[in-house]
Amino acid sequence: LGGVALDELARDQASGTPTYVYDLDAIAREARELIAAFDGAPGLVAFAVKANGAGPIVRALAREGCGADVVSGGELALALACGVAAKKIVYSGVAKTDDELDLALTAGGTGIGAVQVESLEELTRVAARGAALGVRARVSVRVNPGVEEDTIGTHAHISTGHDEAKFGVSLGDIDAAIERANASTHLDLIGFAAHVGSQLASIEPYAQGARVLFELAARAIGRGAPIAFVDTGGGMGIDYGGGYPSRPAEFVRAAREVQRVAGLERLSLHVEPGRALVGAHGVLLASVIQTKRATIGGAPRRWLMVDAGMNDLIRPALYQARHRVVPLVRGAGEASTPWRVVGPVCESSDDFGEHLLGAEPPARVAILDAGAYGFTMASQYNGRALATEVFVRGGRVVARTERAPRDAWVRERAGVGEG
Ligand SMILES: Cc1ncc(COP(=O)(O)O)c(C=O)c1O
Repeated sequence: LGGVALDELARDQASGTPTYVYDLDAIAREARELIAAFDGAPGLVAFAVKANGAGPIVRALAREGCGADVVSGGELALALACGVAAKKIVYSGVAKTDDELDLALTAGGTGIGAVQVESLEELTRVAARGAALGVRARVSVRVNPGVEEDTIGTHAHISTGHDEAKFGVSLGDIDAAIERANASTHLDLIGFAAHVGSQLASIEPYAQGARVLFELAARAIGRGAPIAFVDTGGGMGIDYGGGYPSRPAEFVRAAREVQRVAGLERLSLHVEPGRALVGAHGVLLASVIQTKRATIGGAPRRWLMVDAGMNDLIRPALYQARHRVVPLVRGAGEASTPWRVVGPVCESSDDFGEHLLGAEPPARVAILDAGAYGFTMASQYNGRALATEVFVRGGRVVARTERAPRDAWVRERAGVGEG
């Protein structure tokens, strides 16, 4: 990955595995390809920081000209600290605290690009914070575009655009949102946003969401709202090994075509990719702790027990996601023996699925496509230290994190004082 020998890297880790390794060059390349799809038209690639909040990654994307889509005050402060201009930040999330709203409305002196409100109630709250701070708040309305789950073809937990979702304002409430924003002296309604779902298997639902958004933008402009952008969200899928037909740039081109047909080319088009920028460019390295063999119902079973678990990469447990697992050093013979790769966590869902490996188990493996929603979702469940992270650029390691010693967790938990 990125020109470094992963097995060497795994063995070199003074503090062992599990270790995430990221290719900063490939991540920057993804950003350039996506930005190029705009052909110079007004637009913003706002990286969904929730996918991966590591400093070297957010900084690399900021240097390529990306903005950030953030979902908490913490992510907002992180994006600013990594050099993302306040104006290039949009802030989504269904329940932002007053503190978080105040940070958004004042960041960089004049506030972030837009607070994406997800309910009429939130619109009222943002207006109140604007009044308290004596500013006009730039808001966009995150819409629930009504794209049905069965047309999205993604897992129910990561599809968000359907009507019952807790996210976004439903289409029936949009007129009220426009009226409320227009009537307020502390709100400027400057955009509409949607995120129809993640790991989208086709472009059509994305285009469908874009059509809804541009229609709404036209309606709001007709009512005098100072609309400046439409944000068609993230959700561009990546190839986890099963093949994937579309590049992220094709989603952008499809949204631009919808924009052209709507005659709203003067508006800026925002997109919020997370996974598409980083997912394929991170791996999780793990060492094999032991194997286990058993005969169940007369059939032999083999487990490969590795030192990375669901606390390090929860996607298989949470979304039934499948990540390819490959040996770091290919053993002799064909990779034709099924091994069930599991972690050490005390949960039956701590299971990376069955993978064809050599008859002789490898000493170390890489779990592929772990760059998005990997480390950001990691926990210390079962008293496990967080995985370390290694960042590669130009064929060499340019940054790495240290693993916390076991003592650190013990001190932290045992140290919770009483009375
Ligand atoms: C509002 C919003 N934008 C962007 C994203 C990023 O999605 P993805 O990583 O699938 O591109 C998400 C993911 O949950 C989201 O909720």
